[in-house]
Amino acid sequence: MNNSSFIIYIGWLGLSDQKVAEVFFKHTYYTIIINLKRIKMNIFEAIRKDHDIQRDLLEKLIKTSGDTKQRDEIFQSLKKELQVHADAEERHYYKPLIDSDMMQDKARHGIAEHHEIDELIEKLEETDYDSSAWLKTAKDLKHKVEHHLEDEEQKFFQLSGKVLNESQKTSLATDYNSYMSSHR
Ligand SMILES: [Fe+2]
Ligand SMILES: [Fe+2]
Repeated sequence: MNNSSFIIYIGWLGLSDQKVAEVFFKHTYYTIIINLKRIKMNIFEAIRKDHDIQRDLLEKLIKTSGDTKQRDEIFQSLKKELQVHADAEERHYYKPLIDSDMMQDKARHGIAEHHEIDELIEKLEETDYDSSAWLKTAKDLKHKVEHHLEDEEQKFFQLSGKVLNESQKTSLATDYNSYMSSHR
């Protein structure tokens, strides 16, 4: 509802002019706050929403079996999601932190784990879908990725929250989100 139709609507309710003005300003205030929240996503919220996509795909992946279309589709989606996320995160999260004394080791550790995840993806690609080894490696991948996401969310975000200022946090989120949407 836009502001002018909102005024007509509350006018119909027969409220006094003062009450109408009160409701109108409250409505406008909440609309502005909601829109600001939408626009001002920070880098941690941006990354966390994609981590949840990965967690969901990993859960689904280990419930698949054999050489099936479903296993192939979920694996291909997860592979793409992990690769694009790792690229976006290295460019728009780890790179600005690598010069900070507080975050350098963590950034290196996070990037090294991205390589370990890549290796497990390659191992899955080299294994037949209907081999029993495939599910075992998929479970190793799930364990590795979940550990990595937990490190980022529980340890790295907290520390890097002290290194980045508020405007960096929101501008990195914009860059991260635009990389994700143009490479997915
Ligand atoms: Fe990561
Ligand atoms: Fe991540």
